[in-house]
Amino acid sequence: MDANAKVTLVGAGLLGHALALVHAAGGHQVKMQDISEKQLEVGVGLIESALSTMVDAGAITAAEKAATLSRITPVPKLADAVGDADLVVEAVVENIPVKTQVFAEIDAAAPAGAIIASNTSNLDVFPLIPESRQERCLIAHWYTPPYIIDLVDLAPGPKTDARVMDEMEALYNGMGKKPVRFEKFINGYVANRLQAAMGLEITKLLDEGWASAKAIDDSIKYGLALRMALMGALMKADFTGLDMMQRGMANMTYTPPVPKGSSPTLNKLMDQGRGGVMSGAGYFDYGGMSPEELFRNRDIGLLKLKAEVDKIEVENPLGA
Ligand SMILES: NC(=O)c1ccc[n+]([C@@H]2O[C@H](COP(=O)([O-])OP(=O)(O)OC[C@H]3O[C@@H](n4cnc5c(N)ncnc54)[C@H](O)[C@@H]3O)[C@@H](O)[C@H]2O)c1
Repeated sequence: MDANAKVTLVGAGLLGHALALVHAAGGHQVKMQDISEKQLEVGVGLIESALSTMVDAGAITAAEKAATLSRITPVPKLADAVGDADLVVEAVVENIPVKTQVFAEIDAAAPAGAIIASNTSNLDVFPLIPESRQERCLIAHWYTPPYIIDLVDLAPGPKTDARVMDEMEALYNGMGKKPVRFEKFINGYVANRLQAAMGLEITKLLDEGWASAKAIDDSIKYGLALRMALMGALMKADFTGLDMMQRGMANMTYTPPVPKGSSPTLNKLMDQGRGGVMSGAGYFDYGGMSPEELFRNRDIGLLKLKAEVDKIEVENPLGA
């Protein structure tokens, strides 16, 4: 796929609008489509404000913001949006009948050679995709906000041509992203599985009253996360020494929690109307700050942190 590939985003929701931004920032011509014209408008507004935040954080220049915006065209009808696409990225609701219908509409209107990439979180979408498209489809699963978080999981279907995987890996590497390639669809990929395992431990620690929300987040921020950002988990284990890992496993005196399907601590917060940043409080209080302000501050913090991590990666102090 060349530098000026034509990319279409089907779905302009939370992930769709942000993925339109990502592909346009990568230099591609992007059409963004949604069944809701209102959402299409909202999506364009969100792209503009995300780009402004990136300018404020020093991640891009005002000229780069303008150039990225100029490459994005909202298109209301799916058939018009995919008619000349080299790559169609599907980011509609996580619902089997809706995705099946959308893949059928893409099949009817997209060029035969187009690659179809689904951003599904948990669905094995391959049985939903028409037979004639099986060789040129894959899952490309992102993390929010994808214009800051570079990881993208690439998973082939049973009939996906390996060259399609190669092409998508090269495309995203070329855009400065970090594709991770799987042999097949695995529910949760790696990052979401690790996050889910951590979520079980966190819930248990809170529900049992063994650690406060602050103690848990401090342990992550000042302990785990800094080392993980530099080394991941397995290189960190190499530095600790694998003998320690072996002894740690042998000496483990508790069983990791099994999913219970609910948490008293979480249920209590929800009953109090503390649903997180969107409602002004969750595990923590946010002192009356608006969600917009909080998301903007989060994004600026993440962009600054990422700039430093990127610098360290270029220096490659560990040589791996
Ligand atoms: N939210 C996340 O953090 C996240 C992360 C990774 C992957 N995903 C995946 O991305 C996909 C989209 O999730 P989201 O969070 O952006 O959802 P969302 O609800 O914010 O957006 C989905 C959009 O799809 C649109 N849509 C529905 N039917 C359509 C149709 N027939 N044609 C065109 N557009 C249609 C809706 O109007 C809506 O704007 C899902 O598969 C989800 O699993 C989400």
